[in-house]
Amino acid sequence: MESFQLCLPTKVIFGKEEYQNIGEYLKPYATKILLHYGGGSIKSSGLYDKVVSSLNRAGIEFVELGGVQPNPRVELTRQGIELARKENVQLILAVGGGSVIDSSKGIAIGVPYEGDVWDLYDKENSAKPQKALPVATILTIPAAGSETSASTVLSNMETGRKYGCSSELVRPVLSILSPDLCLTLPKNQAANGICDMMAHIMERYFSPSTHVDVTDRMCEGVLRSIMNNGKKLMEDYKNCDLWAEIMWAGSIAHNGILGVGRKESWVSHGLEHELSAIYDIPHGQGLAIVFPAWIKTVWKENPTRFVQFAIRVMDVDLEYYDQEAIILEGVRRLEEFFTYIELPTRLHQIGIDNSDFEKMSKAVERIKKTSFELAMEVYQTAL
Ligand code: NZQ
Ligand code: ZN
Repeated sequence: MESFQLCLPTKVIFGKEEYQNIGEYLKPYATKILLHYGGGSIKSSGLYDKVVSSLNRAGIEFVELGGVQPNPRVELTRQGIELARKENVQLILAVGGGSVIDSSKGIAIGVPYEGDVWDLYDKENSAKPQKALPVATILTIPAAGSETSASTVLSNMETGRKYGCSSELVRPVLSILSPDLCLTLPKNQAANGICDMMAHIMERYFSPSTHVDVTDRMCEGVLRSIMNNGKKLMEDYKNCDLWAEIMWAGSIAHNGILGVGRKESWVSHGLEHELSAIYDIPHGQGLAIVFPAWIKTVWKENPTRFVQFAIRVMDVDLEYYDQEAIILEGVRRLEEFFTYIELPTRLHQIGIDNSDFEKMSKAVERIKKTSFELAMEVYQTAL
């Protein structure tokens, strides 16, 4: 086990309709806030009205900025920074999914920063956030885990780049997880979210670190639970108890606790961010394609770990001497699960060919995720 430090400061408020009390919950933090949201789902679901009336009841003043798109754009974040500065807000309230939360985090670190906020994301620039406004969230889709994570990811359409920024400063101070909010989610978004949270665990699980039995068992247990409840959810989509399991799993998957004491991978995320930067596909969909291809490409580097995954998570029961057969059966079952929840597992299924492979592989190499050759091999395997 590697040495580690752990501090998980986000206050999680979990329960049906807890968003109705957001005004009261925010009172200790702010009297004036920026309410940030996405493309309209919170208005059609009625959540926007409930949040506004709770803020009014609590006497919390607010200004608002909607319009965050999936794969959130730095351009809107810049607008949010201007607005937050002009209005002197004390906190950013994100109501939405990972995209809205990540844009809110960008505003939070951008307000006190004197340069352009993109400097804090751009891998060619060494600027790091030094201060941030607090961020609170009302989560509407279990997926990215940004509601408790210490990172934010933005896209820059001018440069065609999608980059993350990691800092403890962006961990939300408070997040409301109300599973009833998931009932309006389209099934494809639910599937994208399930894949993303599994990928967050697998990025931590496929580690060269040894003597990590506690976190191994935790990762395996949460992965099994996500697949079990995810399958049931596809057949019983309005079941709030199943949504509660998935919603909590999504936060645990990425708050950091499953990665303590381990070296983490994040190569599949690096490879996927190139796909969503260029083709604007949902992050979870890209991961369903990239992750199995990455396993097929790298398993020989650490076969016992992939054997352990196949046996303990995917219930593969083959002869122990044939490691390759066990591992490949494990990946096949992983792909079978993604297919069951109606995700693609090959690039050609979503109309992507090999024309950008070299460009994407150079970019992945530049941000030091992996070598150009390995990136090319994974993309080819994913075709
Ligand atoms: O914009 P609206 O109208 O709200 O619609 C959204 C959006 O179209 C819709 N939606 C969300 N909640 C809904 C709903 N529709 C109906 N009912 C609801 N309750 O779902 C669509 C997708 O939303 P988005 O926020 O983009 O999804 P997700 O949470 O998967 O976030 C994806 C982003 O997070 C980044 C990804 O790269 C991607 O940009 N990530 C952020 C991470 C982090 N900050 O820690 C880690 C992840 O690895 C990931 O990279
Ligand atoms: Zn992710």
